[in-house]
Amino acid sequence: MLTKSATDPTLISRSPGETALTMTMFMQPEHSNSLGNVHGGVILKLCDECGGIVASRHARRPAVTVTVDRVNFLKPVLLGRLVLVHGRITWVGRTSIEVELRVETEHLLTGERTHTNSAFFVYVALDENRRPTPVPPLRIETEEERRRFEQGEQRHRQRMLEAGRL
Ligand SMILES: CC(C)(COP(=O)(O)OP(=O)(O)OC[C@H]1O[C@@H](n2cnc3c(N)ncnc32)[C@H](O)[C@@H]1OP(=O)(O)O)[C@@H](O)C(=O)NCCC(=O)NCCS
Repeated sequence: MLTKSATDPTLISRSPGETALTMTMFMQPEHSNSLGNVHGGVILKLCDECGGIVASRHARRPAVTVTVDRVNFLKPVLLGRLVLVHGRITWVGRTSIEVELRVETEHLLTGERTHTNSAFFVYVALDENRRPTPVPPLRIETEEERRRFEQGEQRHRQRMLEAGRL
């Protein structure tokens, strides 16, 4: 017979690949800023949505955004482009989850892809009382995932220092 821990989705460890997600949206006139490019807020909202889904997939709990690292907009996003937001977990703490969001645009007629920005968003899983609750460990399967986890650990330490929590 299976134990609760073997079947409870909030306890099962998952690899980054199992929860990774790509969200896409075609940039229309309603996404524009006053210069005629895509408004940065549209991109940030997409990133936050994608990262939140990825974190919830890992925790199988509602997840709220607790912090966003610096976001640099490297290139303007043009109307008429397809935006692809790739979300992938890099690090998991006790109740928090770091997701890397990488944004690319695709020119539909040429297929050309451009990397426009990347950022780390951190989410906290909440229980039924909307309090932080433990999340399952990350199942690391590759050397690359190990390296990224260790970098995530360092970023977490730095955030804790900056927040005066260390
Ligand atoms: C997220 C929230 C529940 C955390 O509450 P809290 O009292 O700080 O809870 P805790 O001290 O137990 O910390 C919970 C986790 O958040 C992490 N955390 C807290 N502040 C952080 C910060 N500034 N940066 C990064 N992580 C942070 C902690 O390290 C901890 O993670 P860990 O368990 O993996 O170590 C609370 O801050 C909140 O409700 N924020 C609003 C969230 C929201 O509404 N987001 C949408 C934005 S509009």
